[in-house]
Amino acid sequence: MDKTKTKQLLRQLSLRQLQLFEAIERLGSYTRAAKELYITQPTASMQIKKLEHSVGLPLFEQIGKQTYLTEAGKIIHRHTQQVLDALANMEMEIADMQGLKTGHLRLAVVTTAKYFAPRALGKFCELYPGIDVSLKVTNRESLLQRMENHVDDLYIIGHPPQSDNMIFEPYLDNPLVVLAPRNHPLTDKSNIKPEQLAQYYFIMREPGSGTRMAIEDFFAQHKIELKIRMELGSNEAIKHAIDAGLGLSVLSRHTLALEGVNGPLSILDVKGFPLSWHWHVGHNKGKHLSLIAETFLNFIKAESDSILHK
Ligand code: PGA
Repeated sequence: MDKTKTKQLLRQLSLRQLQLFEAIERLGSYTRAAKELYITQPTASMQIKKLEHSVGLPLFEQIGKQTYLTEAGKIIHRHTQQVLDALANMEMEIADMQGLKTGHLRLAVVTTAKYFAPRALGKFCELYPGIDVSLKVTNRESLLQRMENHVDDLYIIGHPPQSDNMIFEPYLDNPLVVLAPRNHPLTDKSNIKPEQLAQYYFIMREPGSGTRMAIEDFFAQHKIELKIRMELGSNEAIKHAIDAGLGLSVLSRHTLALEGVNGPLSILDVKGFPLSWHWHVGHNKGKHLSLIAETFLNFIKAESDSILHK
């Protein structure tokens, strides 16, 4: 690109357009990106048209319902990432200069930690009231995707993959238990053999869930085929389905945080359970943690037990 064209591009494009462009690529949809940035879908389309006009080439192509980057789009995306990373670092360094008075913490957690994370954030914000936080609750697969895209500062996950690009450390137990309605014939039995579960229907989390992965691993190892009645994308929905007599399931014991162990569901005494999982907290390797993220990391490592058992 000659210098006149570069000047023209710099005059026309805006950081907001680049932010939108990045969000569309990450979320694979204009609608979702517009929602994330609190703008309307027509505004999003118009801004991308303007950006394409400034660049002089189309940046996205639509195949079926999916939006893909064109070759020019891929180049713009690579550089946009660098620009947005540089801005995030700038924000972070300035916030660090101001100590813990202001700034932003982005935390993403798997669904089993959604009962714990708000409590931890609540305590943290009492100590540092000037900080604003965003908490994303999602399943394992989508959390790892966010991590790959460097979306958040810190991540909490049950069973991190082996990867050279991530640093995780275990910090709290996340036991997975077999749940049944209180009036189930197995409720009062002890030492139930896993094979006995095969005669009952099961309710599973969606593909991409770490809880589902743990259940599938366990029963595959025991060569037991489960009868799956349905898949549900939320722990709460599964608890309601168990209560309604639709089947059994395996969930994190933390999902019983609000009702406690004397609620409508009972934990079955099945051999091999609870599966002993641990939550791990971590971040991308090589990412310079902001002062806020580092303080939060140390805070939850030190305080989690007392937050959980208060
Ligand atoms: P998930 O959480 O089932 O929401 O993916 C599993 C985990 O604790 O890592």
